[in-house]
Amino acid sequence: TLTADAATPDAGDPADSPLVRAARGLAVPHTPVWFMRQAGRSLPEYLEVRDGVPMLEACRTPDLVVEITLQPVRRHGVDAAIFFSDIVVPLAAVGVDLDIVPGTGPVVAQPFRTRADLDRLPALAPDAVEDVAESTRRLVAGLGGTPLIGFAGAPFTLASYLVEGGPSRHHEHTKALMHGDPELWHDLCARLAQVSGTFLRIQAEAGASAVQLFDSWAGALSRADYRAFVQPHSAAALSAVADLGIPRIHFGVGTGELLTDMGAAGADVVGVDFRVSLADAAARLGPSYAVQGNLDPALLFAPWDVIEAEVARILAEGRAARGHVFNLGHGVLPATDPAVLTRVTELVHRLTEHPA
Ligand code: CP3
Repeated sequence: TLTADAATPDAGDPADSPLVRAARGLAVPHTPVWFMRQAGRSLPEYLEVRDGVPMLEACRTPDLVVEITLQPVRRHGVDAAIFFSDIVVPLAAVGVDLDIVPGTGPVVAQPFRTRADLDRLPALAPDAVEDVAESTRRLVAGLGGTPLIGFAGAPFTLASYLVEGGPSRHHEHTKALMHGDPELWHDLCARLAQVSGTFLRIQAEAGASAVQLFDSWAGALSRADYRAFVQPHSAAALSAVADLGIPRIHFGVGTGELLTDMGAAGADVVGVDFRVSLADAAARLGPSYAVQGNLDPALLFAPWDVIEAEVARILAEGRAARGHVFNLGHGVLPATDPAVLTRVTELVHRLTEHPA
């Protein structure tokens, strides 16, 4: 029955899709495009099915996860689906008392600050998120040739929510713990790497064609701190799916100075936000990595001719890299007109199917 729901009648092999090929640096029929946070509040059909259902409950309800994941694929014709969930879902699954507050983000009832708090962070057992495997299998069956991207939050970004207790601008408690008690910091991140890696592996084993590790707030760190306190744990999370051979995407915001370290953590594709041109990113990364990005999500509110020129510039700069997956530099803003996303998808396809 889900096949009838599928966005694309495309019967191709997702392992040979433009997304996977671009991630591997292979020739593509067109530059693949998807949007971070494509499945979310910018879509009226999303608001309709989410009506009255709390976010964390929606994330654990396979019928909703499957429907919401497919919505943007159906509507925009993007080259990948991203699993509908949240980075804090596996934390809630191991028993951390948290909520996703609309308009705010994840809020943790009791912030993590001391060694005793580690007791509240047991390992993630795959059967604690059996619904995630089920949703993934149903999606893979329904998506045909369109690849599904599984994802998880990286240890640093998860740690920031746990230690701060919620969204944070300066990450001051997190940095105080990192430097004040490095041993506890590393123990905390080792646990988070297990949670994160297991969450990736569950989705990958259930059929996801690629995974993305979101280290959204890593740009708050100096390069030295990233290398000493964060990169080994992100590498551990990514290594949980290394043997499966699917592309691994590693993304952060404001991480221009960290791109090579994020690549070296075990990525095939490095996400680049809008602050760094893809040509500069490619020069920093060298020939071993594909890039993903990097249209400024705020520019989707600009006149169409501005967007058109930006897309063309990004595609031209992306040619410097081993491969290019078109995306935004960060997630879709809630007030974005969905029609613009459809138009950008079509434009990327048109410009790269018929290169000048
Ligand atoms: O395309 C998709 O939307 C895929 C699913 C997805 C969500 N969150 C759904 C969501 C993904 C990939 C995420 C990742 C995520 N969650 C990140 C990393 C990506 C990034 O944007 O940097 C982070 C930092 C979070 C934590 C989080 N969860 C935030 C900051 C928020 C937004 C709070 C708000 O309302 O402004 C959430 C909630 C959330 N996650 C929503 C969605 C669709 C909105 C909840 C709702 O609709 O009620």
